[in-house]
Amino acid sequence: RKDVGILAVDIYVPPACVQQDSLETYDGASKGKYTIGLGQDCMSFCSEVEDVISMSLTVVTSLLGKYKIDPRQIGRLEVGSETVIDKSKIVQECGNTDVEGVDSTNACYGGTAALFNCVNWVESNSWDGRYGLVVCTDSAVLITSPAFHFFFPTSPSYWGAASIAMLIGPNAPIVFESKYRGTHMSHVYDFYKPDLASEYPFVVDGKLSQTCYLMALDLCYSRFCSKFEKYEGRQFSLSDADYVVFHSPYNKLVQKSFARLYFNDFTRNCSWIEKEAREKLEPFSSLSADESYQSRDLEKASQLVAKHLYDQKIQPSTLLPKQVGNMYTASIYAALISVLHNKHSSLAGQRIVMFSYGSGLTSTMFSLKVNDGQHPFSLSNIAAILDVSHKLESRHVVAPEKFVETLKLMEHRYGAKDFVTSGDADLLPPGTFYLTHVDSLYRRFYVRK
Ligand code: ACO
Repeated sequence: RKDVGILAVDIYVPPACVQQDSLETYDGASKGKYTIGLGQDCMSFCSEVEDVISMSLTVVTSLLGKYKIDPRQIGRLEVGSETVIDKSKIVQECGNTDVEGVDSTNACYGGTAALFNCVNWVESNSWDGRYGLVVCTDSAVLITSPAFHFFFPTSPSYWGAASIAMLIGPNAPIVFESKYRGTHMSHVYDFYKPDLASEYPFVVDGKLSQTCYLMALDLCYSRFCSKFEKYEGRQFSLSDADYVVFHSPYNKLVQKSFARLYFNDFTRNCSWIEKEAREKLEPFSSLSADESYQSRDLEKASQLVAKHLYDQKIQPSTLLPKQVGNMYTASIYAALISVLHNKHSSLAGQRIVMFSYGSGLTSTMFSLKVNDGQHPFSLSNIAAILDVSHKLESRHVVAPEKFVETLKLMEHRYGAKDFVTSGDADLLPPGTFYLTHVDSLYRRFYVRK
């Protein structure tokens, strides 16, 4: 099988959103804390008629419809999500019951596990010639706003929601370079949900999770480079990657991550690091690994010397994560979609390196090679169907008060039965699925607008 990878992709973002600067004011945070400090612009959230299931139904129906794929052409369906609803698979009636695959749940990594399963299936002897379909769907509900101090101590609000569907098969425009994968798994309590009775993952050590993320990044990069070097017989450096796409809980972490990779290339003596940058980083070369994670000076110096490359290799991936917020499993693929949206006309022949991270922790760096693709699976058609600008611009900005009101209702409804939603679908675009009621046996009912 040749060129196995992503043939097509679609994203659904709920239409309600809050501007981060208005949240700064509402939360009484210092001006710039969320917008500059965390690097976020806006965040989308599910209203009381939407959830991870309705968003998945919407995005899958949209993808299949726009690419004219009959559901019977799908042989494997994998869902990655960390938003547990009823722990069983929801397959909408579509005339196809011959579908393999179950859900993958492992913090923000579930979508990547689902994607690998589909790619591996198409590459394997079990493949029956049909498409794989990956869905990443999450509504991230991490309340750290002062408005919710009764749940959590101080810290900014932090939210996002989206569903992404990816069609997997051979002769794809976005091809897996499956040989180059670097993985790191480790047992850490950085961010986890021990209390399944609550929607909130109420044990999170934010600072530890940042350090865990950066340590995992270092290890994955080193393993990724070793694999590349083994197969290619030459050193890998960031100059071999046209874009690097990160799991993006908030943009500041992405800025730190790219600077960290650049520092890795410096310590690995990669020839492409310019003399001036080398001189600026030299004072940090004697730091131990532990010291290097704590050094603010190193963080600042490496961000500064890598800035022009950040603009080139990273900035195009930041649009959706900055605009929509943390989408958990969907975050990294929303970043990939941002690259497709911004750069589709010049991507052919280029390499995109991906870093996926799930707390707990599970992480992988892997590589994609892009070609123009063939209609309907061409880059230009994918970008046109994604229609990212329209999706973002047609959202409705609501005040923080309205957002907090929704949160309170959702907390009340979490795990509840026997309720009818308002059924208010005014904001939803035509074709969107939404929740109408949950019966006395917790069964959920959706309709399509
Ligand atoms: N203007 C500009 N910058 C500001 C301002 C301001 N007014 N106020 C603060 N900042 C900067 C800080 O200097 C800091 O920058 P730095 O990271 O370069 O040091 C940044 O904003 C954050 O400020 P803190 O005071 O550190 O904020 P807080 O204590 O709220 O912690 C954290 C931030 C740890 C990211 C928190 O939001 C959190 O716990 N998030 C969830 C954990 C997470 O996402 N981890 C990532 C991996 S796990 C996963 O993917 C789910």
